[in-house]
Amino acid sequence: MAETAILQVDGQSYELPVITGTEGERAIDISSLRSTTGMITLDDGYGNTGSCESAITFIDGEKGILRYRGVPIEDLATRSSFIEAAELLIFGELPDPEERDEFRQLLTENSALHRDMRKHFDGFPADAHPMAILSAMINALQAYDLPEIHITDSGGFRRAAAALLAKTRTIAAASYKSHIGQPIAYPRYDLPYAENFLHMMFSVPYRDYVPSPEVAHALNMFLVLHADHEQNCSTSTVRMVASGGANLFASVSAGVNALWGPKHGGANMAVVEMLQRIQSDGIPVSRYIDQAKDRSSGVRLMGFGHRIYRNFDPRAQILKTAAHDLLESMQIKDPLLDIAQQVEEAALADDYFRERRLYPNVDFYSGIILRAIGIPTDMFTVMFSIGRTPGWIAHWKEVHDNEAQRIHRPRQIYVGEPLTQWLPPAER
Ligand code: ACO
Repeated sequence: MAETAILQVDGQSYELPVITGTEGERAIDISSLRSTTGMITLDDGYGNTGSCESAITFIDGEKGILRYRGVPIEDLATRSSFIEAAELLIFGELPDPEERDEFRQLLTENSALHRDMRKHFDGFPADAHPMAILSAMINALQAYDLPEIHITDSGGFRRAAAALLAKTRTIAAASYKSHIGQPIAYPRYDLPYAENFLHMMFSVPYRDYVPSPEVAHALNMFLVLHADHEQNCSTSTVRMVASGGANLFASVSAGVNALWGPKHGGANMAVVEMLQRIQSDGIPVSRYIDQAKDRSSGVRLMGFGHRIYRNFDPRAQILKTAAHDLLESMQIKDPLLDIAQQVEEAALADDYFRERRLYPNVDFYSGIILRAIGIPTDMFTVMFSIGRTPGWIAHWKEVHDNEAQRIHRPRQIYVGEPLTQWLPPAER
């Protein structure tokens, strides 16, 4: 017999179905609640609300588990290329060699920007934030890459997905080159994804940049670890926009904007800025921790805490080791890594953080890796966007393909003025 939950309200009893996911998570299905009781649920920040059923990514925040399409993140981070992980997320399974070659070819064919898109770069002021450029340019891509706006067949979707993955990387590198006043470097057709990005970032007409295998590996791992994270703020935004029928590029562009904030993807930049401030102002770590514990200070320990992970963030653990390995291979000594470790140790030993179950998240060590690679701090959230693009595409597709999909339209509890009379200006 199907499991149900009983809700008692106004002296009446209502039976609500209980839904169980493939990993045993349970939810009370309240989709008939308003029509039967006249009431809605209130869940500020959606901490208890499942907004959809999804088959893409599984997280168990208590146990620190993250899997893309069932495959553990630890395996993907160490053994998969970013594009393989992207194909897994977007198309639902690991590609066989033929599928991999075909998709790589599509990426290669679609990596260059239309010549007229250059004019868009010229229109931005030199100090424009790269996230503003990225979201605007992804939106503009629609005009060049998705002429029919609506994707009608699987071939069209594969091409649009490849174009978005390849061009997000090209736009990111081109915005950096425009910002520093260097000529834009064209994508190369012989390089894998991460290496090609580094080439477009750091090659100049008189000198090709060739990354060490360790640098390419670290960037690839960074991208794999950021590729999806189920219904986070930016992905929910993509799904929200997609539910209204918006095209792939418009929906992903909205996701970039949602990622920008310091409580979300902007945290990777905020972490490095925090560590630099501790270093340059000579603030003792213990004093900084005290400030972060004091709500009135307005200071938070950036890179700490997560809505879902209440034990540890598996991505942070992988990135911590990767940061050490990379710095060692490059023979770099970054004082910020030492400060980060001191901050982590002090926070983990502190009751405030322990009681609230606040642990380092994905952003805590990722900035150290990006710095070592030579990525400027204001590009960090752009790097997160490149990594998250496969997830956004996969979630857009899940919404797009769901014939029963309703437009996302939450309700609210109104707490404003009751009926109020309009008064002419002289009487106000
Ligand atoms: N530093 C100090 N205190 C914190 C921190 C922090 N980083 N994070 C949470 N807290 C405290 C809150 O003040 C609150 O304390 P209270 O119970 O005394 O009121 C308690 O812990 C719960 O915090 P919430 O803000 O309710 O937790 P929520 O799940 O809403 O927020 C978030 C999660 C946004 C990640 C938060 O922990 C935070 O702001 N962290 C710093 C920013 C950051 O690193 N963001 C990246 C997240 S990962 C990602 O998006 C890719």
